[in-house]
Amino acid sequence: MNTSDVFRYLPLTPERWADFEQLFEPNGNCSGCWCTWWRLSTADFRNFSHEEKKNTTRTLVQSDKVPGLLAFVEGTPAGWVAIGPREEYPRLERSRVLARVDDKPVWCINCFFIDKHYRRQGLMAGLIHAAIEYAHSQGAQLIEAYPVDPHPGSDSGSLYHGVTSVFVAAGFVEAARRSEHHPVMRLQL
Ligand SMILES: CC(C)(COP(=O)(O)OP(=O)(O)OC[C@H]1O[C@@H](n2cnc3c(N)ncnc32)[C@H](O)[C@@H]1OP(=O)(O)O)[C@@H](O)C(=O)NCCC(=O)NCCS
Repeated sequence: MNTSDVFRYLPLTPERWADFEQLFEPNGNCSGCWCTWWRLSTADFRNFSHEEKKNTTRTLVQSDKVPGLLAFVEGTPAGWVAIGPREEYPRLERSRVLARVDDKPVWCINCFFIDKHYRRQGLMAGLIHAAIEYAHSQGAQLIEAYPVDPHPGSDSGSLYHGVTSVFVAAGFVEAARRSEHHPVMRLQL
C-alpha cells in the first residue's frame, strides 16, 4: 500500500489534544504512560498517577511545545510518533546504552504507537518520513533513533522504539551499538 495516499500527518498542537486522547484512551493509554517515559525522572515516572502523566503531556502541548506527530486516516487518529530535541529527554541522557554519540545537536525519534486497526500497513515508515520533515522544518540537521530488531512473535509493545529495517530504508545508518539488539541510528539532513 502507498501509505502517503491514505494517511495525513500533523503535529500535536493544542487543538489536536482531543485526537491524541482519542488515539491513546481506547488502547489503555499505553499503561498510563502518555508518552512521558523519556521525559520524567525515574522517581516521577514511578510515583505519578496516570492522570498526572497525562497532565504532564497536556501541559507541554498547551505551552506550544510539539512532542510528536499524529497520523490521521479520514480525520481519525491512527498513529503517533514522538520526536524532539534530544536534550528534552532526561532519561535518554542518563542511558548508558543510548548515551550521546558526540556533542552535535540532535533530534530524536523515540516512540511509536499505532492503533491496532492500522498496524502492519507500513504506517511506521510514513510516520518516520513525516517526523523527519517536521524536524527539518524546525531546523534539525541530525536525527537519531534507537530501534530494535524484531524476532518472530515479537510483542508489538516491545517495538515502541521502532524497527531497525524501517529506519535503514529511510536512510538512517548505525552510529553506535552498545547493546546487541539496540543500535543508535542516525540520519544527517
Ligand atoms: C510496533 C508498531 C509501532 C509497528 O507499527 P506498524 O505500522 O504496524 O509497522 P509496519 O507495518 O510499518 O512494519 C514495520 C516493520 O516492523 C515489522 N513489525 C511490525 N510489527 C511487528 C511485530 N509485532 N513483530 C515482528 N515484526 C513486526 C514489520 O514486519 C516491518 O518490518 P520490515 O519492514 O522489515 O518488513 C505497532 O505495532 C505499535 O504501535 N505497537 C504498540 C507500541 C506501543 O506499545 N507503544 C507505546 C509504548 S508506551
